[in-house]
Amino acid sequence: MTNAHPNYTEDQVKLDPYTLPLAAINVANPYLFAHDAHWPWFKRLREEAPVHYCAESFFGPYWSVTRYDDIMTVDTSHDVYSSEPAIVIRDPQEDLPLPMFIAMDRPKHDEQRKVVAPVAGPENLRNFEPVIRARTIDVLEHLPLGETFNWVDRVSIELTTRMLATLFDFPFEDRSKLTYWSDISTAIPGMGLIDSEEQRKEILHQCLAYFTGLWNQRVNAPPGNDLVSMLAHGEATRNMGPQEYLGNLVLLIVGGNDTTRNTMSASVLNLANNPEQYRKLVARQELIPSMVAETIRWQTPLAHMRRTAKFDTELGGQQIKAGDKVIMWYVSGNRDEAVFERPDEFIIDRPNVRKHLSFGFGIHRCMGNRLAELQLRVLWEEILKRFERIEVVGEPERTLSSFVHGYTSLSTIVHPRTG
Ligand code: HEM
Repeated sequence: MTNAHPNYTEDQVKLDPYTLPLAAINVANPYLFAHDAHWPWFKRLREEAPVHYCAESFFGPYWSVTRYDDIMTVDTSHDVYSSEPAIVIRDPQEDLPLPMFIAMDRPKHDEQRKVVAPVAGPENLRNFEPVIRARTIDVLEHLPLGETFNWVDRVSIELTTRMLATLFDFPFEDRSKLTYWSDISTAIPGMGLIDSEEQRKEILHQCLAYFTGLWNQRVNAPPGNDLVSMLAHGEATRNMGPQEYLGNLVLLIVGGNDTTRNTMSASVLNLANNPEQYRKLVARQELIPSMVAETIRWQTPLAHMRRTAKFDTELGGQQIKAGDKVIMWYVSGNRDEAVFERPDEFIIDRPNVRKHLSFGFGIHRCMGNRLAELQLRVLWEEILKRFERIEVVGEPERTLSSFVHGYTSLSTIVHPRTG
């Protein structure tokens, strides 16, 4: 983290949030997340200012909603809080409009979601499970044993990229392009991957050109079960313009990629850091689904979702004005002491483990939640069959973002079963 971005300051990481006046608190600084230093900032807001106004930030003024119940209110009050024009704290780029159904209100949102929802529906999930298992086994069997390697690259990215290629029926040999386009979509200009918005635009247009080729093939073929075919044949999507096609592609690429990837890495990290929980899992493998849910709570792979107030309204005693940005910090709601006992601990058999906010609630609730859980469950079933344990070496490197909450590197050593 040496190349500080001119618009953010890394210095905030060293501050004690309790020494600042409440009005000076800005929790959206990506460096807080890259250093895993955001927790006490959110704790203070939950305790003292659960609906908090930050008047000045790189992203403009915004409200932070940090308690579980208030987040639930915002997420389920679609008539008051809009998903337009964006669901992230950062405003959309005027020269790169990317309409996508996650950032639309009713009725258009519902119509477009309906077109693609079956991709992660029960029938597809049943068909996917053997494919996911075979790929998981393939990736695990090719890991170097007893040597240090980066779990993020070798396992988390590899498995989620293969899954994405299947969802789109994307040429398998080109699948690394999907990961690349996903990373480009969420990158901060000037921080390594891209230098400018102009460059992002250029690369995403290459993505659009590639996918237009796939659309042209599929639109003239009978409807299939993959996302491109669904979009090309769906009543609510078949007449989309190119920008809207690109916007929905970005949603479907990013939605299923970083989130599941970072959950996979987090599960390895947490089970290595909590040996008593790992022993419990080995002894009671029926706890795998519950462990997966706890990982999704603990990690909160998307730190926030944003809404924009449609009217003047009141929340937690605060007066919110029409047009104000309202940030639901899921990452904080999932650590709310009022809902989760010992919230900072990783407890794989929590009684209310499924209550987490990580998939959101309401009409935008994650469309791929069952698919993500399936991939995680199969991964751990296959890990426990063949490895004694996975050791984590040193500290992970974390994503520089206040939206994607994850890891760029996790050094691990896999120990095979003996005997
Ligand atoms: C652990 C993994 C995942 C997490 C934590 C996650 C999280 C989320 C969240 C927070 C939302 C917005 C909820 C809201 O605004 O109320 C969402 C929406 C969405 N997710 Fe996921 N997601 C995950 C995996 C996936 C996968 C595998 C897919 C692939 C199909 C996917 C596709 C989507 C789509 C298309 C939406 C938009 C839904 C809508 O607007 O109606 N997600 N996800």
